[in-house]
Amino acid sequence: MKAIITIREEERTGEISPYIYGQYFEHLGNCMYPGVWDGDSARSDGQGLRKDVIEAARELGVPVIRWPGGCYVDLYDWKDGVGPSEQRPVRPNWHWGGQELNRFGTDEFLSWCEQVGAEPYVNVNLGTGTLVDALRWIDYCNGAETADAKWRKDNGREEPYGVRLWGIGNETWGDWEAGQLGADEYAAKLANWAQFAKKYDSQLQLLGVGSYEGNDEEWDRKVIEAAGKYLSYLTIHIYGCSVDRESSDEYYPIAFTPVYFENQLRKMIGTLETTLSRMNKKPGHPIRLSLDEWNIRHYEVDPSGNGGYLLNRNSPRNLQDAIFAAGVFHAMIRLSPHVGMANYVFLVNGNGVMNVTEDAVVKTPLYHLFKQYGQWMTGKSVSVEVQSPSRLTPVPLVSNPEYGEELARKHQPVSSPYIDAVGAIGEDGSLRVAIVNRHLESGFDLSLGIPEGYGSSAAVWSLHHDDIHASNTSEAPERVVPVLRMGVSIDNTLTVPAHSIVLLRFEKA
Ligand code: AHR
Repeated sequence: MKAIITIREEERTGEISPYIYGQYFEHLGNCMYPGVWDGDSARSDGQGLRKDVIEAARELGVPVIRWPGGCYVDLYDWKDGVGPSEQRPVRPNWHWGGQELNRFGTDEFLSWCEQVGAEPYVNVNLGTGTLVDALRWIDYCNGAETADAKWRKDNGREEPYGVRLWGIGNETWGDWEAGQLGADEYAAKLANWAQFAKKYDSQLQLLGVGSYEGNDEEWDRKVIEAAGKYLSYLTIHIYGCSVDRESSDEYYPIAFTPVYFENQLRKMIGTLETTLSRMNKKPGHPIRLSLDEWNIRHYEVDPSGNGGYLLNRNSPRNLQDAIFAAGVFHAMIRLSPHVGMANYVFLVNGNGVMNVTEDAVVKTPLYHLFKQYGQWMTGKSVSVEVQSPSRLTPVPLVSNPEYGEELARKHQPVSSPYIDAVGAIGEDGSLRVAIVNRHLESGFDLSLGIPEGYGSSAAVWSLHHDDIHASNTSEAPERVVPVLRMGVSIDNTLTVPAHSIVLLRFEKA
């Protein structure tokens, strides 16, 4: 098959935020224990943090990471998670089941971030916590002279951590949340909490909860009107869904789910822009979207409980998931600079970018994808025109069946191109082009319209495997790995294999 990709270098849409390649940790199942913290294990450091996981995360280049939840945080008291490790209370994990050791708390999270070089993003407990709890948490992290700053120093950390990103609430509209609120109540409470957080430190960047998949314009409007002047981000969570991961019937709905993501992001950006332009007094600073939870969920029965249905212990992320994730990156790159952050669910275990057991760290195809896009697909987003055959596909397959029939919407089929491409100009002036071929069976001969001023050869990175369900395991950790070729003669044509992801980098001539 054939397609044409034309790069319009002069049409730059905006700065791509490096944070769109961000990650997420939550206290659910085996995600934190032993995924990130493993006590006295030979693989852990003096704080119990897994050194091999830190090393892999550093190599991955995690730009930002959200913690501790999610639903978990709305029943979490941060004070349980600081102080001498062995004296911390063991509590029930109120949301996900099982026990919470509280061994991975604020100091461990922030130390982990510093070692990895990731920006921390902390979500406070709006559900069952108080405003004072939240402010004291900020002060524990960032204060200099106060009682909570002294508590931090007594716990071994002299310098303030300087945490800038603070989320206020999580899916507050959901009846599964501890502390569900209506739009008016949430908007008022958020404005109130945000006001005091900003009074404490005007430089903090605050995130307010946006509506379910961007579908409730009224919710988003009320939040922006009431609290927009304090907010740097409005959050949106979108989950695709998989019912039978091994079935080839699911391939196209999953590969095309990013079309649904882009639609929902555009919808929320539209609400944001319309609301801001109607407001008498605009905030005077940009408010960006934060897609701070996203993935393809597979509802797998796991008798262990403990949030097990989300853990996907038997389904490591595979090439199909990488095709999906690349499409989500493309949507966010096209929507730069309106999308300022995203946090994949999760970095470790449970749909993870890495699968961590007591004695191994396995890098999934997603790991390689995040790493490469984070390195190359940054800078200024440029317009790319794609002429490609399309396919009529219903997306997403089913949206969140756990939310009940009324929300389990089956979408009309949409016609979407097999080839999806985006471009970026890096700080060094090089041109980067990312291409996803979503066709299951057919390769494509691409005709590339590369602007003048770039060499005719490129560095070419590709991720491909004949089997779309191929994944990496501790027995076969390198089954799906990328290939990097330097100085490949392109001369405006390129052949890409079926179901593959290919990135090109052209230096200035
Ligand atoms: O996948 C994790 C959970 O999903 C988060 O805790 C919650 O915010 C979302 O519904």
